[in-house]
Amino acid sequence: MKRLDVESIRRDFPILNVKMRGHDLVYLDSAATSQKPVQVIDSIYQYYTNYNANIHRGIYELAELATDAYDGSKDKVAKFINANSMEEIVYVMNTTEAINLVALSWGEENIKEGDHILISEMEHHSNLVPWLLLANRKKAILDYIKLDESKTMIDMESLKEELEKDPKILAISHSSNVLGTINDVKAIGSLAHKHGAKVLVDGAQSAPHMPVDVRDIDCDFFAFSGHKMLGPTGIGTLYAKKDILNSMPPVIGGGDMIRTVEKYACTWNDLPWKFEAGTSNIEGGIGLSAAVDYLNKVGMGNIYAHERDITEYALKRLSEISNVSVFGPDYNSMPNRSGVISFAIEGVHPHDIASIFDSMGIAIRAGHHCAMPLVTELINEAAVARMSFYLYNRKDEVDRAIDAIAEVKKIFKIGR
Ligand code: ALA
Repeated sequence: MKRLDVESIRRDFPILNVKMRGHDLVYLDSAATSQKPVQVIDSIYQYYTNYNANIHRGIYELAELATDAYDGSKDKVAKFINANSMEEIVYVMNTTEAINLVALSWGEENIKEGDHILISEMEHHSNLVPWLLLANRKKAILDYIKLDESKTMIDMESLKEELEKDPKILAISHSSNVLGTINDVKAIGSLAHKHGAKVLVDGAQSAPHMPVDVRDIDCDFFAFSGHKMLGPTGIGTLYAKKDILNSMPPVIGGGDMIRTVEKYACTWNDLPWKFEAGTSNIEGGIGLSAAVDYLNKVGMGNIYAHERDITEYALKRLSEISNVSVFGPDYNSMPNRSGVISFAIEGVHPHDIASIFDSMGIAIRAGHHCAMPLVTELINEAAVARMSFYLYNRKDEVDRAIDAIAEVKKIFKIGR
């Protein structure tokens, strides 16, 4: 592992120089969206300045350049997650659309009345609502793997019990956007496969932060978003094994996804284009490609190690403050947890915490984090505050957040 040159990385992110409320910005909300390096911003500028054209259609040089850049980005994304080839890389808007595509295409074909669909109690709404809708449409049964007593990890006994119902699919997050828990999706998926289930991994919070190898995990589907991994908004990826994608019908029809069209019949284009109707998000693919280049240059293993270092430091500092609780595995029980830390200050609403942080130039998120069953039912809070780290964060920014907590306690006269 190589220690990151964070100062040089920070110079690539123009936004880190802005002031917020008159203070140097401390950006601790990368789990919501990451900031973008100049290399990504510039790739989009270059596309519009030098070779903007529609792809897969024009017989002229600009169109060829745009097509090569867009299609080439899929080769990079395939390598980034170790897929077999770009045929397994379907571009969508984001993780949410990727999971909806699986539910609407694979789900419509394969889920029948009375079938079981299995998810966990720590899922983001994007890996819950599409399955709830599918279950309602099909009169299927949506089951939940329970969390253990600590309310931070999957209960393996509950997983085994639920698998006895032979679910058709298990859909589970790789890394929780609330708890920072990293699920052993390889082991969990292997158990599910023994029961004949397909396995979908929600990689929204893992792909940006750690090395991901979909062939080693052996999942059937893997979904992630570009905007959380230095890329632009509006581009995300659904990876699926080629034979499964071949068996799935398209959901959106139109240009580019067909091979032939007659008045009353169509044949479909090759993978992955069969699932991408209409003009693609060309600038998104080009920006994502630049983001993957950037992450590869820094090294995903190095990024992961850097975030673990910051997270360990932040958890230690938080543990020294009274009246503060942290929701998620502690460093000793899960040293590989991610750099997402949800917390509460006794007697203070998380929106007040976030507002005081904001007044000190620190961006954090407060709310139910699109995981209401987890936050409101299990953690039993209406909302929680959350800080999340990325490759550009430093320990002195954690110190600024700790100072902000002291300020919150002072304003609300909490503890000493
Ligand atoms: N899913 C994103 C988050 O957790 C938006 O903040």
